Amino acid sequence: MPALEKPEFFETMANHGWSSLGFSQVSLVSETSEQVRRCIETGNFDEVLIEPDLGAPYTRNSHNKLPLVSAAMDTVTESETAIVMAECGGRGTIHAALEPETQFKELEKVKKRLWGFIEEPKTLKDSMTFERVHEFCEKYTFTTFPVVDSEHRLIGIVTGHEIDRSSPSDPVTDKMKPFDQLRVSDTLVDIHEAYQIMRDEGINMLPVIDEERRLQGLYIFSDVKSIVEETSGMRNVDEKNRYVCDIAVPTDDASVERVKLCEKYLIGGGGVVVLDTAHGDGLYAFKTLKKLKEDFPDIDFMVGNVTDPDSAIYLARIGADGIKVGQASGGVCTTKDETGHGRGQVSAVWDCSQALIKAGFDTPVCSDGGIKLHGDPAKAIAAGASSVMIGTMFGGTNEAPGERVRMPDGSPGKIVRGMGSLAALQASAAAKHRYGDGKSLPLPEGEAKPVPISGDLAPLVEDFRKALRKSLLYAGRVSIEDFQRNVRMEFDFSSISK
Ligand code: XMP
Repeated sequence: MPALEKPEFFETMANHGWSSLGFSQVSLVSETSEQVRRCIETGNFDEVLIEPDLGAPYTRNSHNKLPLVSAAMDTVTESETAIVMAECGGRGTIHAALEPETQFKELEKVKKRLWGFIEEPKTLKDSMTFERVHEFCEKYTFTTFPVVDSEHRLIGIVTGHEIDRSSPSDPVTDKMKPFDQLRVSDTLVDIHEAYQIMRDEGINMLPVIDEERRLQGLYIFSDVKSIVEETSGMRNVDEKNRYVCDIAVPTDDASVERVKLCEKYLIGGGGVVVLDTAHGDGLYAFKTLKKLKEDFPDIDFMVGNVTDPDSAIYLARIGADGIKVGQASGGVCTTKDETGHGRGQVSAVWDCSQALIKAGFDTPVCSDGGIKLHGDPAKAIAAGASSVMIGTMFGGTNEAPGERVRMPDGSPGKIVRGMGSLAALQASAAAKHRYGDGKSLPLPEGEAKPVPISGDLAPLVEDFRKALRKSLLYAGRVSIEDFQRNVRMEFDFSSISK
């Protein structure tokens, strides 16, 4: 029997009492693509495989090149995680447990990490000889070294040209190209301006200095050229070519101040504000959203979490630009044990996204929580999500801010903790807001647990990208929207015996 179209599938399941399906309870159905069918009809199989497009909206006015988002958890996302997420085409949400100033600084670190800009180039000290330079050349793959004095002021540059004409005992300062012969920039130009300057003036590098002549960083023409001329890059950047980065704010009037502080980096597609609460259906969520939307009409707000379709519609009516769906599905969440509430992620995403479409809203849905396997994001998207938020699985990476510990078997690990865990609740008012009124200590709805160190974030995200691409190919779909609309699902009976 052929698989049902999705509306019939979910209706049939609900009629049988299965209205809270999770990721492990469904599987996706493979199909030949339109391209393959066309080739069969024409008999011509010379076509090049159509590469699926993994881009999708995050909110009404923001976009991801890869629909993956790192969660607003204090053991998951600060600047280092957010930078890698944006480099890989997704985005990170700087958590709200930080004081407003500190959260702003984390956002600023992401925004100032200009790609192609070498922030901490290897430098030579003015007291060195070329013997040290030769050692550097053996150690590193490059041959351009700024020379600085004891105050980190730029006094010259050594390149391959000078290295070739030096002997080990020569002082660096004798053979370097001195400062007054260098083309430098005394403002932090972006990569496109740097490219233009270097191309127009025929120079291979552009050091950036501050008003005291202290070295801020360096552009190298070959790097900049390859980045600027790259057309299929995955980097998720705003209109000023800075990495896209989001901030989470609590459901509290003081959030107005947080957003105001970060506003310059968020407008114009720079980032989204994630209004973050476990109870997106609650009074505080609606009240804060209304206030923030009035005060910041040019910023997009992703709001949640909800699992009820009516709540999704109410939030959209108040002005939410994206709806975050997921209650009690998180890897370090105990909401269901404590309160009895929670829904299977697949059914919740389907119900909320369908309700929004039927009510005439173009508000994208983000599926938040419960990702354990590479194939789970595809299932969330098949259910109607335009993006997928991941916490616990990213918490073991080198970039995540969690405390390093030993696992029971002695191997290296990191602590991942729910924002509703006792430790997180005690640590910040924002966590208290996520689960209560922000003042008194609420009942914990999360736990803290050690997870094995999983290495760098980028390869992990890359595995998720490959998995999602393959899911689209198996389904014969060419884009996220095509996949969302058309891929079919089946109940996975093997999950019953698990
Ligand atoms: P994963 O499964 O990727 O889910 O870790 C991330 C999401 O889990 C939510 N979250 C919590 N939910 N108690 C909860 O009920 C908690 O302590 C908690 N901490 C995080 C949150 O939505 C996050 O994005």
